[in-house]
Amino acid sequence: MLLARFGRRIAPETRIDNLLTIIAEEVRHILNADRCSVFLLDSARKELWTKVALGVGEKVLRIPIGQGIAGFVCKTGSAVNIRDAYRDTRFTQDFDKITGYQTKTVLAVPLKDRDGKPLGVFEVLNKGKGAFNEEDEGFLRILATIAASAIENARLYENLRKSHLETIYRMAMVAEYRDQHDTASHLHRISKYTGLVAAEIGLPLDLIEDLRYASPLHDIGKVAIPDSILLKPGKLTPDEYEEMKKHPVYGARMLENAESRLLKLARNIASAHHEHWDGTGYPDGLEGEDIPLEARIVSVVDVFDALTTRRVYKGAWSVDDTFSYMLEQSGRLFDPSIIEAFVRCRPRIEELMADEGHMTGAGEFGGTA
Ligand code: C2E
Ligand code: SIN
Ligand code: SIN
Ligand code: FE
Repeated sequence: MLLARFGRRIAPETRIDNLLTIIAEEVRHILNADRCSVFLLDSARKELWTKVALGVGEKVLRIPIGQGIAGFVCKTGSAVNIRDAYRDTRFTQDFDKITGYQTKTVLAVPLKDRDGKPLGVFEVLNKGKGAFNEEDEGFLRILATIAASAIENARLYENLRKSHLETIYRMAMVAEYRDQHDTASHLHRISKYTGLVAAEIGLPLDLIEDLRYASPLHDIGKVAIPDSILLKPGKLTPDEYEEMKKHPVYGARMLENAESRLLKLARNIASAHHEHWDGTGYPDGLEGEDIPLEARIVSVVDVFDALTTRRVYKGAWSVDDTFSYMLEQSGRLFDPSIIEAFVRCRPRIEELMADEGHMTGAGEFGGTA
């Protein structure tokens, strides 16, 4: 049954782009139409634009609300079935001129949200044989209903994920607020460097994104370290350093039993970012690949950033000196394969460091990649 297949294909899709493409493919197939477009409403610009336009190439078509057939359908909220487009006064030939196409039959139905407000228009052109009939129209309406609710769900999901990521990022801000002069840019760099290295070693995109948001939480355990130690301008006494070395344990406790993959990664990073490849690190003296990969990455990134920036207890090192040190410590403090990847990222890392001056606030983290 076609509808069941359609439902199965769209159910797991949470990304709007993929979702709409699948919907359009199915609709074109089911209705035997030559072209299929999903227009979405851009309320701010008062126009419809083709999020998906199968059979049209890469062009994005834009049409003001109220113009053309799609505009008419969106504005009135009623479906339109046309046998001969060029004899219909609502039809605009503009698109055919752009795409070098001859539209003949058109079936278009509105996409509406739960409250009946317009989301866009679903349009199919040039049925294989004859005109679109009532059965086609009924079918397109059902598919439009499913599509509209899927679009709404995808939007809800994206909003939820966005606020989840933003909250996590703000948590990191809280944790770092006391001991960094430039908390926002420090977290920003950690996140960016981590993303670069993760991409360089070939991790999948969704994991890279989670790592970009998990890495700024690496020092969250420092919230439990007293000011007298955390903010001490000079060298720590051995006792003070012992206390400081508990911050990964505190961090791991704060993130213990996390359920989301992102926070599980954050927990491993917080817990193991001061472990050393040769087993001389803390808190557990883990060695080699017993240290989670995510922590091995952040360990490199964290030390690089600590050395190249000023701290209350030290000045900033030059990039050259820092890279020499990192290479020297490859196989001791650091996983050699991560250091290799890090060195390959050097041009992009230096670009990021140079860009730093133009960065503003946590807004950077609203988007992806
Ligand atoms: P942090 O400032 O973020 O530094 C992270 C890591 O970067 C350090 O981990 C260390 O591996 C490396 N690093 C930082 N500065 C230097 C340096 O001058 N030379 C070398 N070779 N490596 C450096 P570590 O040592 O486990 O320290 C963890 C945290 O403890 C530091 O985070 C910082 O918050 C604090 N800390 C460490 N030493 C001192 C200190 O002498 N005074 C104060 N006030 N805090 C310190
Ligand atoms: C229209 O909606 O008037 C244009 C139809 C098309 O060519 O996509
Ligand atoms: C910055 O570098 O100032 C901030 C960027 C960010 O936190 O997203
Ligand atoms: Fe740390």
